[in-house]
Amino acid sequence: MRETVITFEKITKSYPFYHHIVGIKNFLFALPSSLKAIRTSRFEALRDISFEVYRGETFGVIGRNGAGKSTILGLIAEVLRADKGKFLIEGRVSPLLELGAGFHPELTGKENIMLNGVLLGLTRRDVLKKMDEIIEFSELVNFIDQPIRTYSSGMLARLGFSVITHLEPEILLIDEVLAVGDIDFQKKCIDKMMDFKKSGVTIILVSHSMEDVKKICDRVMWVENHTVRMIGEPDEVIASYRHIE
Ligand SMILES: Nc1ncnc2c1ncn2[C@@H]1O[C@H](COP(=O)(O)OP(=O)(O)O)[C@@H](O)[C@H]1O
Ligand SMILES: [Mg+2]
Repeated sequence: MRETVITFEKITKSYPFYHHIVGIKNFLFALPSSLKAIRTSRFEALRDISFEVYRGETFGVIGRNGAGKSTILGLIAEVLRADKGKFLIEGRVSPLLELGAGFHPELTGKENIMLNGVLLGLTRRDVLKKMDEIIEFSELVNFIDQPIRTYSSGMLARLGFSVITHLEPEILLIDEVLAVGDIDFQKKCIDKMMDFKKSGVTIILVSHSMEDVKKICDRVMWVENHTVRMIGEPDEVIASYRHIE
């Protein structure tokens, strides 16, 4: 029997709708009605989404920009809350790996590793034990004592990926971060995910690289227009997705 670790049942998630606010001056001039408009006008980023993720599988999420992929990961990481529907999760989730999120620009790479580790519930000692390994994986040893505001997006992705993969998550969330790394680092990340897969970690991977998705995912969900278009075998889902592109 497959064991379910994540359940979305008819989940709807909306954000306040800002687009109609025409200029800050008008906004302030008509403050009460502007605020009311913000409160009442919502934009549906996800509508009636249902799916399950099984323990130990690698679950790909594909779809165009703005389809709702990151919102799904935000709900899984519990940094966002659904408006409607049932959400269940079992297991320790890695933090949502978004470029720069959770990192403090004025702290050094090393300090950020410590900060993230501690925020994620490890003791300082635990983090220190893993520090060398994390730095080595990131290949940022020459930059690790610099404030990370000096890092490029690729370097931030390296640091982020290295930190979360060394925290021994049970459920790993990866949102497009691999795209900004160079080819060698991308390959290393894929290898690392393969190791996780072998050791039974559940992985949710959002990616625009159909090649990566095919290579490591067991099932794929295609999100289109804020709802689920298709869930199934990677080859099948990717072929349909490509067909409409
Ligand atoms: N914080 C936010 N406030 C308002 N709208 C948002 C916010 N985050 C995302 N959206 C909107 O929700 C939709 C889905 O976004 P997102 O989940 O980031 O898509 P994806 O990751 O697939 O590109 C988009 O239309 C986006 O503009
Ligand atoms: Mg996104």
